[in-house]
Amino acid sequence: MIKLRDVYYCEICGNVVEILNEGSPALVCCGQDMVFLEVQTQDSSTEKHVPYIEETATGVLVKIGQNQDHPMLEKHYIKFIEVLTKDKVFRAELQPEMKPEAEFPVKKDEILMAREWCNLHGLWKS
Ligand SMILES: [Fe+2]
Repeated sequence: MIKLRDVYYCEICGNVVEILNEGSPALVCCGQDMVFLEVQTQDSSTEKHVPYIEETATGVLVKIGQNQDHPMLEKHYIKFIEVLTKDKVFRAELQPEMKPEAEFPVKKDEILMAREWCNLHGLWKS
Protein backbone atom coordinates (compact mmCIF):
# COMPACT_ATOMS: atom_id res chain seq x y z
CA MET A 1 0.00 0.00 0.00
CA ILE A 2 1.53 3.26 -1.15
CA LYS A 3 1.39 6.01 1.47
CA LEU A 4 1.86 9.76 1.38
CA ARG A 5 5.56 10.74 1.70
CA ASP A 6 6.83 7.18 1.10
CA VAL A 7 10.00 7.03 -0.99
CA TYR A 8 10.59 4.56 -3.86
CA TYR A 9 13.75 3.68 -5.78
CA CYS A 10 14.37 2.26 -9.28
CA GLU A 11 17.12 -0.36 -9.11
CA ILE A 12 17.85 0.06 -12.83
CA CYS A 13 18.16 3.81 -13.42
CA GLY A 14 18.39 5.16 -9.85
CA ASN A 15 15.23 7.29 -9.96
CA VAL A 16 13.98 8.24 -6.50
CA VAL A 17 10.31 9.18 -6.10
CA GLU A 18 8.44 10.64 -3.12
CA ILE A 19 4.68 10.18 -2.96
CA LEU A 20 2.80 13.51 -3.03
CA ASN A 21 -0.65 11.96 -3.49
CA GLU A 22 -1.68 8.37 -2.83
CA GLY A 23 -2.95 6.72 -6.00
CA SER A 24 -1.57 3.88 -8.07
CA PRO A 25 -1.08 0.49 -6.33
CA ALA A 26 2.41 0.14 -7.83
CA LEU A 27 5.06 2.47 -9.18
CA VAL A 28 6.83 1.23 -12.30
CA CYS A 29 10.10 2.55 -13.69
CA CYS A 30 12.28 1.01 -16.44
CA GLY A 31 9.65 -1.73 -16.87
CA GLN A 32 9.71 -3.04 -13.30
CA ASP A 33 8.18 -2.20 -9.92
CA MET A 34 10.07 0.43 -7.96
CA VAL A 35 11.42 -0.66 -4.56
CA PHE A 36 9.92 0.84 -1.39
CA LEU A 37 12.75 2.41 0.61
CA GLU A 38 12.53 1.28 4.22
CA VAL A 39 13.73 4.07 6.51
CA GLN A 40 16.69 2.95 8.59
CA THR A 41 17.41 4.23 12.09
CA GLN A 42 20.31 2.19 13.51
CA ASP A 43 23.73 2.91 12.09
CA SER A 44 26.53 0.64 13.27
CA SER A 45 29.05 1.67 10.62
CA THR A 46 31.65 4.34 11.25
CA GLU A 47 29.94 6.57 8.69
CA LYS A 48 27.01 8.16 10.37
CA HIS A 49 23.74 8.44 8.49
CA VAL A 50 21.15 9.19 11.17
CA PRO A 51 20.14 12.88 11.00
CA TYR A 52 21.09 14.95 14.05
CA ILE A 53 18.88 17.98 14.81
CA GLU A 54 20.23 21.12 16.49
CA GLU A 55 18.06 24.11 17.39
CA THR A 56 19.17 27.48 16.00
CA ALA A 57 17.90 31.06 16.43
CA THR A 58 15.72 30.72 13.33
CA GLY A 59 14.80 27.04 13.29
CA VAL A 60 16.89 23.88 13.11
CA LEU A 61 20.15 22.68 11.63
CA VAL A 62 20.09 19.04 10.52
CA LYS A 63 23.51 17.38 10.33
CA ILE A 64 24.52 14.00 8.87
CA GLY A 65 25.88 12.88 11.36
CA GLN A 66 26.36 14.20 14.85
CA ASN A 67 30.13 14.09 15.50
CA GLN A 68 31.52 13.19 12.10
CA ASP A 69 30.40 14.40 8.69
CA HIS A 70 29.12 11.82 6.25
CA PRO A 71 31.32 11.74 3.07
CA MET A 72 30.29 14.11 0.29
CA LEU A 73 32.20 12.59 -2.62
CA GLU A 74 31.11 12.35 -6.26
CA LYS A 75 30.27 8.64 -5.88
CA HIS A 76 29.00 8.69 -2.30
CA TYR A 77 27.08 11.56 -0.79
CA ILE A 78 23.91 12.78 0.86
CA LYS A 79 21.59 13.75 -1.97
CA PHE A 80 18.85 15.32 0.13
CA ILE A 81 17.82 16.10 3.70
CA GLU A 82 14.16 16.50 4.61
CA VAL A 83 12.24 17.73 7.62
CA LEU A 84 8.63 16.58 7.88
CA THR A 85 5.99 18.25 10.03
CA LYS A 86 2.27 17.48 10.26
CA ASP A 87 1.46 19.43 7.10
CA LYS A 88 4.78 20.47 5.52
CA VAL A 89 7.82 18.85 3.93
CA PHE A 90 11.06 20.86 3.77
CA ARG A 91 13.79 19.48 1.51
CA ALA A 92 17.37 20.61 0.93
CA GLU A 93 19.09 19.20 -2.17
CA LEU A 94 22.83 18.71 -1.71
CA GLN A 95 25.76 18.28 -4.09
CA PRO A 96 29.16 16.59 -3.63
CA GLU A 97 31.69 18.73 -1.69
CA MET A 98 28.92 20.60 0.20
CA LYS A 99 28.65 20.14 3.96
CA PRO A 100 26.21 17.31 4.82
CA GLU A 101 23.81 19.59 6.67
CA ALA A 102 20.92 21.96 6.05
CA GLU A 103 18.97 24.64 7.93
CA PHE A 104 15.19 24.72 8.00
CA PRO A 105 12.86 27.45 9.31
CA VAL A 106 10.87 25.17 11.57
CA LYS A 107 10.51 24.71 15.33
CA LYS A 108 12.10 21.52 16.63
CA ASP A 109 8.96 20.44 18.48
CA GLU A 110 6.93 20.55 15.22
CA ILE A 111 9.19 17.98 13.54
CA LEU A 112 7.71 14.52 13.07
CA MET A 113 10.77 13.19 11.26
CA ALA A 114 14.07 14.30 9.77
CA ARG A 115 15.38 12.02 7.05
CA GLU A 116 18.11 11.87 4.44
CA TRP A 117 18.99 9.78 1.43
CA CYS A 118 22.55 8.57 0.89
CA ASN A 119 23.06 7.51 -2.73
CA LEU A 120 24.85 4.32 -1.58
CA HIS A 121 23.26 3.44 1.76
CA GLY A 122 19.64 4.48 1.37
CA LEU A 123 17.11 6.32 3.50
CA TRP A 124 17.70 7.20 7.17
CA LYS A 125 15.63 9.03 9.76
CA SER A 126 15.64 10.38 13.28
FE1 LIG B 1 26.56 6.59 3.08
